[in-house]
Amino acid sequence: MTIALGADHGGYPLKEAIKKHLADQGYTVRDLGTHSTDSVDYIPYAAAAGKSVAAGESDLGILCCGTGLGMSIAANKIHGIRAACCADWFSAQKTREHNDANVLCLGARVTGEDAALTLVDVFVSTPFSGDERHARRIAQISALEK
Ligand code: RB5
Repeated sequence: MTIALGADHGGYPLKEAIKKHLADQGYTVRDLGTHSTDSVDYIPYAAAAGKSVAAGESDLGILCCGTGLGMSIAANKIHGIRAACCADWFSAQKTREHNDANVLCLGARVTGEDAALTLVDVFVSTPFSGDERHARRIAQISALEK
């Protein structure tokens, strides 16, 4: 599984921790920046990771900023992206099972590193349930993009 990572300056340290955590488990990680704590706008990083997922280059994306909110708002503008900002493992699990979310957004100033890594583990290891009712609802979400 290939996972695209993106962050702004606020999320950079968490992105680095996630990169190591995933690589240690054998995941292929596509690090799309940023690469330091110098202040940057988060939008290009949300776009890079989101487009990588939407294009099928990456299976899932993980975006980190201060709150996770700007990243999720930006990523959800990309056709085919269902980005979920999560701060608890139950939401990270259910957004895969029910929403087939393909991007997880984390707030580095909201969620501590250990907890964030747990959310990452849950997100990348939980499949979409495939239930007809959830597929129907996702199709309705996709129809909003047209
Ligand atoms: C940057 O200061 C901060 O606004 C950003 O990381 C994020 O929280 C935006 O939603």
